[in-house]
Order: sequence, then structure tokens, then C-alpha cells
Amino acid sequence: MHRLLFWIAFGLSAAACQPAQDEVRWTPQQEALIRTLSPLPSPPVDPANRYAQHPKARHLGQYLFFEPRLSGNGKFSCASCHNPALGWSDGKAQAVGLKTGTRNSPTLWNVAHQRWLFWDGRSDTLWGQALQPLESTLEMDGDRLKVAHLIGSDPALRSAYEHIFGRFPDLRDRQRFPSSGKPMPDQLQDPRHLAWSQMAPVDQHVVNQVVANVGKTLEAYQRQIVSRPAPFDTFAEGLQTQDKAKQVALSLEAQKGLRIFIGRGQCILCHTGPVMSDFEFHNIGLPKVGKGPVDMGRFDGITALRTELFTGAGPFSDVPPDHARNDKLLYLTQQENNHGEFKTPTLRNIAQTAPYMHDGRFASLEQVLAFYAAPANAPAVGRREDTLQDLKLSAEDLLQLKAFLESLSGPTLPASLTQQPPAPAP
Ligand code: HEC
Ligand code: HEC
Repeated sequence: MHRLLFWIAFGLSAAACQPAQDEVRWTPQQEALIRTLSPLPSPPVDPANRYAQHPKARHLGQYLFFEPRLSGNGKFSCASCHNPALGWSDGKAQAVGLKTGTRNSPTLWNVAHQRWLFWDGRSDTLWGQALQPLESTLEMDGDRLKVAHLIGSDPALRSAYEHIFGRFPDLRDRQRFPSSGKPMPDQLQDPRHLAWSQMAPVDQHVVNQVVANVGKTLEAYQRQIVSRPAPFDTFAEGLQTQDKAKQVALSLEAQKGLRIFIGRGQCILCHTGPVMSDFEFHNIGLPKVGKGPVDMGRFDGITALRTELFTGAGPFSDVPPDHARNDKLLYLTQQENNHGEFKTPTLRNIAQTAPYMHDGRFASLEQVLAFYAAPANAPAVGRREDTLQDLKLSAEDLLQLKAFLESLSGPTLPASLTQQPPAPAP
């Protein structure tokens, strides 16, 4: 059997050496589509965070990203679930912090390109997003008062903070600024909720400003989590410059997969541009698994956005509410269509970040592709998008698509960016 496979493979590779018989020939339209997928540009600027490019904010953010003291029990940091060695995710189906959640930890590769954060997009700023895992009782179970006191009382953290944001506020009066507290709308009797809700609004504002600034440093750091050129990018460059030596970076099989991706597979309709995401939300018809409540996805994400304080249009943003950056937020509509929609994930470095989907239901790329080959029209909730009808992908197509997806992995980042620096300031 193995010998037979060997001869088939040998035969195929011999055929590949013959003049261009089995070469993928690209039409001008296809070439134009491929150009939309590569190279990856720098992430767009974030005017809502004026510290987004600040070198000291980057450094402090990196320190805090790996810092377990931000969590309630001192054991979890952002990196516990967004581990650089695991494609900035955690290798688990559902995130496990203090408790097990219901959603998969998304990769942070190229996160600064995202317009909405979380699978349901319930945050519109990378800096405001950070407070949610930090305070979630499932994840880090930290709280904003504790974080503010930590920064104020640790001399190295305080000095790093002051070099970026100016004088740290005086929080020493524990009557006004209890040692622990956060809003907990689902647990109104929790002592931490009571402590927070009894504070004067002006004092709450002071603490919120400190944690918004902490978020701004975390954003400054995460903006550097940018993927590096993958074999696919070398190929795309070679195609454009007609450099055959570069085109061989993509195997014939992966090139055929690319042709399906931009063609009859229709993947490029949602996985658009160099990040391979349209940064928007779709219901791809994933059926219900397990007994828990149905995840409404984007529908509930929009409800949450409407009461979110740390948005681009909120009091801690560095742009006024009517800045063009906030247009999408201010004109949000919530419709039945949003039931069961989730954000299109990036496909860069996708081979590193199994399991897949918002709930981590698929352990491998094979399983994801088997789903697309014959997407059951039985969505857990809402309506599956029409684009996904009858793609008619054969077993061979799936292998080719998989080879293409695997060609989207580039080198890792330098160690200087993937671990906690020795101190909060450079
Ligand atoms: C216990 C695991 C866990 C920890 C700890 C954690 N996260 Fe996450 N993170 C998740 C999960 C799960 C999601 C998706 C949640 C959702 O969509 O509802 C997420 C989403 C995100 C996103 C959105 C990415 C996107 O593309 O939408 C960012 C950014 C992020 N986390 C950064 C952080 C930062 C910064 C910290 C530390 C302050 C942190 N995370 C701590 C599990 C974790
Ligand atoms: C209608 C839009 C749409 C189309 C078309 C589409 N996708 Fe997706 N894709 C999504 C969305 C949305 C998700 C996340 C769904 C979820 O988790 O509920 C996703 C998830 C994925 C994932 C898992 C990513 C992860 O990190 O979990 C892969 C891989 C993927 N798609 C590849 C493909 C391929 C290959 C095709 C073409 C055969 C394709 N997609 C077509 C919207 C689309």
C-alpha cells in the first residue's frame, strides 16, 4: 500500500517537473483578487487612544499583559489564555479562567485591525475591551479598584504610569476608594458591587480613568502582535512580479486551494482582505451543541454595546463622540438578522489556533472544512446566510483548501515581544 502511494506521489512529482502541465493558470481577475489578500499592511491608527504608539505605554502594557497580580487570585494573566506559544490563544475549546466559559479564546494575531472586539463585538475599542476579561468572574475575576490600588502602591508601576499619563490620583482615603470593588450587574449583593455602587460618581470616574489608561497600555502592546509574511505572501508577491522562484513558496495543492478560496468556495466573501476577515458578523448555520442556553451572538453584543462605558464615543475616549471613527457605533441597528451571528475570524496563522469557532466545537481544520463542505441548514438560532448553500466541495477540494490554510502561517515574533519584561518601565 505504502509502496503504491510512493509511486503515485513519484509519478505526480515527475509530472510537475514537466513544462507547466499541472500548473495553476491565473486569470487577471483571479490575480486581482489575490492582490487583495496580501501583503498585510500596518494596522489602522486608533485615534481613540492617543497612547497607542507611545513606546513607554507599549512597554508597560507588555508588562501588565503577563502580570498575574491583575487577577483576583493572583494566578491569571492575559497570557494565560492568549499564550504567544499557542498562537496567542490557549489550545482549549472553551476558555478556562477561574471557571470554564462558553467561548473559545480568540487569537490576538493582528487584533489591532479589528473594528469590533469579542466574538459578538460587544466592545469597539481595544483599550476598553481589556477591562472585561480582567473583571469577569469566569476569567480573571480582578476588579478595577484593586487594579488602581496596585498601580498606585507599587512604586515601579506607579512611576511607569506617571511617565505616560502624568500624576497618579490620590486614592489613599479608603472610605472614598475601597480596596476592592467593581460594578456587577448580575450579582447586586456581592460586597464588591456594593462597595463600588456606594462610591461618589466623581470618585468612580477617577478610578475608571486609571483602568482606561491601563487598557490603553494593553492596546499599545497588543498592536504589535502583527503576523509576519507567510508562504502565501511570498507566492502573492511572486505572482505580481512574475518571479517564478517566489511562486513555488506555495505548493501546487495549496495554489489549487487558493483558487477554491477565491472562487467557488466563496470563502473570500467573508474572509476578505489581508487579515482574511471582513470584521463583521455572520450566521454560518452552526447547529446547537450541548444543553446550555443558545448563544445569540451579535444580537446580544449590540445590546451590551449600548450600555458600554469604555467605547470610542464614551468619556474615556481620546476623540469626541461625533468623530468619524464612531460612525458605525452611533448608527448601529439591532435586527433579528443578528441572531446567531459571530465575527468572521482572521485566518492568518490559522493552523496554530485550534480548536475553532466561537465555542471551540471543531478540534481541527479538517472538521471545519467538513462543515463547510456540507453546511447543515439547522442553525442553533436565526437564519443561515444564503452564500453558504451547496458549495459542493469534494474530498480533494477540502485537502487543497487545507493546504492553502496551512500556507498562511508565518514566523513567530521575537522573544523580546513574547514575555514579561523585567520591569514596568524600559
Ligand atoms: C480565562 C481566559 C482569558 C483571559 C485570562 C483573558 N482572555 Fe481575552 N478572551 C478570552 C475569550 C474567551 C475571549 C472571547 C470572549 C467572547 O467573545 O465573549 C477573549 C477575547 C479577547 C479579545 C478580543 C479579540 C477579538 O478578536 O475579538 C482581546 C483583544 C482579548 N481577549 C485580550 C485580553 C486581554 C488584554 C486580557 C488581559 C487583561 C485577556 N484577554 C484575558 C479569554 C481570556
Ligand atoms: C458568510 C460568511 C463566511 C463564509 C462564506 C465563510 N466563512 Fe469561514 N467563518 C465565518 C464566520 C462568521 C466564522 C466564525 C463562526 C462562529 O464561530 O460561529 C468562520 C469561521 C471559520 C474558520 C474557523 C476560524 C477560527 O479561528 O475559529 C475557518 C478555518 C474558516 N471559517 C474558513 C472558511 C473557509 C475555508 C471558507 C470557504 C469554504 C469559509 N470560511 C467561508 C464566515 C464565513
